[in-house]
Amino acid sequence: MFDNKGFPKAKTYWFMGKFYDWSEAIIHPMTHALHYGNSVFEGIRAYKTPQGPAVFRLKEHLDRFMHSAGILKMKSPYSIPQITDIIKSVIRENKLESAYIRPLLFYSYGNLGLIPKSSPVELLVGAWQWGAYLGENALTGVKVYILPWRRVHHSQYDMSAKLGGIYVQSTICGLIAREQGCDEAVFLNLEKNVAEGPGENIFIYKDGFLKTNDRSESVLEGITRSSILEIAHDLGIQTKVEPITKQDFLTADEAFFSGTAAEIAPITRAKDASDKDTPAKDHTIGSGKPGEVTQKISTTYGDCVRGKIKKYEKWLTYVD
Ligand SMILES: Cc1ncc(COP(=O)(O)O)c(C=O)c1O
Repeated sequence: MFDNKGFPKAKTYWFMGKFYDWSEAIIHPMTHALHYGNSVFEGIRAYKTPQGPAVFRLKEHLDRFMHSAGILKMKSPYSIPQITDIIKSVIRENKLESAYIRPLLFYSYGNLGLIPKSSPVELLVGAWQWGAYLGENALTGVKVYILPWRRVHHSQYDMSAKLGGIYVQSTICGLIAREQGCDEAVFLNLEKNVAEGPGENIFIYKDGFLKTNDRSESVLEGITRSSILEIAHDLGIQTKVEPITKQDFLTADEAFFSGTAAEIAPITRAKDASDKDTPAKDHTIGSGKPGEVTQKISTTYGDCVRGKIKKYEKWLTYVD
């Protein structure tokens, strides 16, 4: 049995066709994924809207989930329509008005050779209420640590898949950033350009353009990222998708993270430790406060996910 304090709003989770009490553990310690990270996951949010909870861009998340499974040669025991229904039922069962939703497909118990030849693929779905991923600082601006480690390169691995094991680099580097007194990490890629955060994309606003990078710069092209590009366009903000140099980032008028968990988090300070041969240096980004463009996009995004803007209702899947 597990203590439930860390997840105060979660009552049950779903696993292979049944609901279990949140504190009940049913997975074997010799589960393949536990040893080798052979799992794929999604991070999805549902928001409170006037018509009850609505899941944001569920279709895109589940398409990516199945794409990730394919990269790991997994055959999902459930289809996208079935997982859609399971996610809705988990939200209903837990009576959540808003939620962070975590579907996970993993190679389960069967063998422990690296090839999961007799380990079945199993699905679990949990959902709970989760506030700002980067904490209170996410409102006033976060400080990032520009890492000496380079992001896994797109020539080494398909960056569009969310594979459990690949996130070990994100965890290690997120911990390093916090050890250094920062709120979050920023990876450069092997080309020494700004890539992404451990679980976030990066935007900058500079010279009148809102700019972000793409998969050719070793980033996962997030669903929040594509929503922001569309929202910015609709707001009349000029956008560009191209590499972001470290210099661009440090001298930007504004910068922010985007991601399902982090939502939109202004980046206002950076500690640059990217060059192992020179001491780390502190920088202020823009005015050191969340910028106007960031705030405008953040407000519109917040209204969009909460069903307050008609034209973005196309992105919502109502639970009821
Ligand atoms: C490495 C990485 N980059 C970017 C993102 C942002 O993606 P999304 O907006 O789809 O959550 C995530 C989160 O899934 C991520 O894990």
